[in-house]
Amino acid sequence: MSIVVAGSIAYDYIMSFPGRFREHILPDKLDTVSLSFLVDSMRRERGGVAPNIAYSLSLLGERPRVMGTVGQDFADYRAWLEAHHIDTSAILTIDDDFTASFFCSTDRENNQIANFYTGAMAKAALLSFKDQDPASIEMAVISPNDPTAMVQYVRECHELDIPYLYDPSQQIVRLSGESLCEGISGAAVLVVNEYEFGMIEKKTGLSLDEITDLADTVIITQGAEGSLILSAGERYEIPIVVPRTLAEPTGVGDGFRAGILKGCVHGYPWPVAGRLGSLVAAYVLEQHGTQNHTFTLPEFVHRFRAEFGTDKTYEPVLKHLLTFAKENNA
Ligand SMILES: Nc1ncnc2c1ncn2[C@@H]1O[C@H](COP(=O)(O)OP(=O)(O)OP(=O)(O)O)[C@@H](O)[C@H]1O
Ligand SMILES: [Mg+2]
Repeated sequence: MSIVVAGSIAYDYIMSFPGRFREHILPDKLDTVSLSFLVDSMRRERGGVAPNIAYSLSLLGERPRVMGTVGQDFADYRAWLEAHHIDTSAILTIDDDFTASFFCSTDRENNQIANFYTGAMAKAALLSFKDQDPASIEMAVISPNDPTAMVQYVRECHELDIPYLYDPSQQIVRLSGESLCEGISGAAVLVVNEYEFGMIEKKTGLSLDEITDLADTVIITQGAEGSLILSAGERYEIPIVVPRTLAEPTGVGDGFRAGILKGCVHGYPWPVAGRLGSLVAAYVLEQHGTQNHTFTLPEFVHRFRAEFGTDKTYEPVLKHLLTFAKENNA
């Protein structure tokens, strides 16, 4: 049984320009813009929501399957995922295109100029949960991706009776109120940040109460304020773990979702699952990039106890994690 994470798979190209963009933009020549910036550093980071979530799940001892479309430039990324025990059998290569790529240049004043090329991600609807042996799927994740594919995956999960975590986040702007409503209805879990929740209320016209009636569990993340879990009439406020250093916030939401998913598939109580999410998020914040953090399960459990203390709700889960670590060599 496995967790199948469907979502974007991308490379992030991060460049830095040692000057100031504004000194090279000529306001009286805006009808014939021709700008080129010589950048002095470039990093290529592995990104995309699906591998980000899967990577943290693998640190938590799971063997998730990523489902998504990539291009001809994906070979080394695939090898990296496989080296981290992530099943790449549902990653389809589109030979005549490139993997979705985010190109971002930052100047010395932190101004940014960016382009996002969708590339192979536009073909995500070629993939289907029907081809994934539905009975082997413990839980699906429907994360930001080509909007048509996202709508299709929701329908497939409904039809095949696959429990799913609905994570529309950045693509809320591209989904209709109707599609969002369809995605929320019957979701095992809806996870969004506060701002995204506001957009969902506006686009669907649904209230918080109506949304909690449609999805089994609703999780609203609030950045450094923590998160709120609403499930079966209960309300749990989940605190954060203060990171030891703050390297870069990118990917924090994806790390949080990995903790939540670990809790879902093992039936951990929500106050514990939420805290697993908070702790994974802290590890992500402490590194640059979205897949450069690392921990072993015994280290993770040790830090969990140091952060949250030993509580009778937490201990059975922490013991399970340690046993799981031994059995799975994690
Ligand atoms: N500054 C922080 N310090 C500690 N924990 C944080 C911080 N920011 C976020 N988190 C943790 O990560 C969770 C998700 O964060 P947030 O609400 O910012 O998600 P997001 O806006 O979807 O992030 P992303 O930028 O990855 O899309 C929070 O609920 C919290 O547990
Ligand atoms: Mg997010």
